[in-house]
This record gives sequence, C-alpha cells and structure tokens, in this order.
Amino acid sequence: MSLSKKILVTGGAGYIGAHTVVELFASGYEPVILDDLSRSDRTLLNGIQEITHRDVSFFEGDCCDKQFLSEVFKSAGPFACILHFAAYKSVGESVEKPLEYYRNNIGSLVTLLEVMQDNNVRDLIFSSSCTVYGQPDHVPVNESAPFKRAESPYGATKQVCERILEDAYSTGFRIVSLRYFNPIGAHPSTLLGEIPIGAPNNLVPYITQTAAGIREKLTVFGGDYDTHDGTCIRDFIHVVDVATAHVKAIEYLKQRSEESLYEVFNLGTGIGVSVMQLIKKFIRVTGINLPYTVGARRPGDIEKVFADPAKVNKALHWKVKYSIADSLLHAWQWEKKIRDLKN
Ligand code: WQD
Repeated sequence: MSLSKKILVTGGAGYIGAHTVVELFASGYEPVILDDLSRSDRTLLNGIQEITHRDVSFFEGDCCDKQFLSEVFKSAGPFACILHFAAYKSVGESVEKPLEYYRNNIGSLVTLLEVMQDNNVRDLIFSSSCTVYGQPDHVPVNESAPFKRAESPYGATKQVCERILEDAYSTGFRIVSLRYFNPIGAHPSTLLGEIPIGAPNNLVPYITQTAAGIREKLTVFGGDYDTHDGTCIRDFIHVVDVATAHVKAIEYLKQRSEESLYEVFNLGTGIGVSVMQLIKKFIRVTGINLPYTVGARRPGDIEKVFADPAKVNKALHWKVKYSIADSLLHAWQWEKKIRDLKN
C-alpha cells in the first residue's frame, strides 16, 4: 500500500481534470498534472491556483511518449494512483479523424499501463463513457448492460480501452473505470469551466454561447424521437459531482486489499432529461429567452440514455450534490466570466 499522497492527473488541464485537481487538493492529496495542451490551455491551471492557493506541479507533454512519461514518473513520483483523463472526446470530430482518435486514446492508455508497470504503480482510475453502451435496450442502464456497436470512433475507443483494462488488470493492476454520462456546468467559484475550441459540439456550451449572443440560435438536433417530447434524453451531471466521485474512487481502491481488481461504475444522476426540458430549464433559471429551432437529427446520436447509479452510490459512498438548475446556472455564470476574459 503506497503511503504517497501524490496523484498523477493526465489531462489535468482539461475540463473534468481541472475540477478534479481542485477536489484532490481539498482532500489532502498532492496532484501532479500532465497535459499536452492540445485541447486545453493554461487558463484552467490559473483557475486551480486561484481556488486552491496552491502551486500545482505541471508537466507539458504527450501521454503516448513513453520516454517523457517515464521521466515524469521518475522525477515527480512515487504516485499512489493515476487518474487518466487525457483523451480526445468529441463524438463528431472522431467521425472525421478516426485514426487520430484510435492512436491517441488507445496509445496513451497502453503507454501509461506499461510505464505504471515499470514503476510498480498499480492503482488507476480510467475515464470511460456511457457511449460504450450504444443505444441500451433498457433505461436506466446499469453496468451489466451489454456493449452495443459504438455509434462513433470515440465510443469505440472507450470500448477498446475497457477491453484492454479487462485483459491487463490481472497482471497486477487495481483499476476503476468511471463511465461518465453527460458532464455539464462549471465550478461555483466561476474560476473553472469548459472552454470549447471553436463552435461547441456539446449542448450546454452551445446554449450558453447562444445566450451570450456568440451563436445566433441553438438547433435542436431532432424533434421526432420516440420520447415524451420528441427530443433525445440524457443524464446531465454536474462536473464537480464527477470530480468528487474520482476522489471517492481513489479511497475505494485504497480500502481494497486485492493485489489486482477491475471495477466499472456508471457516473450519472439517474435522472433522464430531454434536450427540450434542458432548454426550458435554462430559460427559467436565467430568465434569458434563448433563440432555438428544431432541425434534423445528428448522425450517431443515441435516442435515450441515463444511468442507474445504484452501484456507484453504494460502493463509493458517493451521491450527486448539484441539481440541473445548479449546473445550468454555474455554466451561464462561467460563460459570462470568460466573455469578460476575452473582451
Ligand atoms: C447531447 C444532446 C444532441 C448540441 C457527450 C460527450 C461524450 C460523452 C457522452 C463523456 C444530443 C443534442 C447537442 C446542439 C443539440 N461524455 N444537441 N444541439 O452526444 O450525449 O455526448 O456525452 O464521455 O464525450 O460528447 O453530448 O452535448 O453533444 O449532445 O440538440 O447544438 O444534445 O443531439 O441529443 P452527447 P452532446
């Protein structure tokens, strides 16, 4: 059992990674961030510093670079656990650039596992995704649901990564895969949040940019699905709730005595919310009359998916703290903040 409090956070300059670094500091850990800044910049590193008043150790580089990764382990370790966020995550972009997604998302995991082995580091928390389920036969979906064919290369990389972990853990790893549903919102301090590159692919940043007047109007992708209001249903979870679940996952592994184990948990609220319901909630919460239109379906979209969170609630002694209204308000406050930053 490692007595170190050092936690390596790959992709720690990104949206979910940065929020998790704040929670790690709050729980007495010493996070070390590794990020190639290909999908992020130093804005969130500054935000972490402003919230925690701590200097965060940061290494800029690529997780697929074995020599670089080995040097980080040697110079900044020993690590008690690794949180592996570093991956490309846009469903739409993965359809356009499948090889980049396979190389980066799978190559970085294999390289990380090899360097962990070289340095006798066994504990890993992996960022997986509800996209591994495809369109589940039943909702809410639990962890025993079978993998359907992934609707995108992004989802396929998460399925392959989970298969790699299933095949590799018995060689001496203790691994938790957290299947994120739809992380949204921003830190209540308004010092951390999502910074999309270009036009947002995801719903909530597109809503907040439309509300800020940066986008002319929101297009709802499809109003003819087999749901109560014809729009897709998702499980929207506050990014800080996602972050605190990672700290609980580290504690969970510390309490397990096995030499090797592999557990998977759905990370969702258990509440299905439609796209139209989310839009109306945003309008109610902010008082902004959001311009939107209902357009064609987006290829690859799942009709309805939301979590059965019973397993994670019980095993990690973790429950969501924030409501959809909190998430939307925090997202809007962050949007206004970064607009000031940019002006
Ligand atoms: C949600 C809904 C769209 C934009 C995300 C992440 C993925 C994974 C799962 C973690 C869909 C609709 C969107 C818009 C719209 N998370 N929409 N107009 O596709 O569920 O995937 O969660 O691994 O990484 O990308 O999220 O926010 O793109 O879409 O109508 O302008 O909103 O059709 O029904 P998605 P999303």
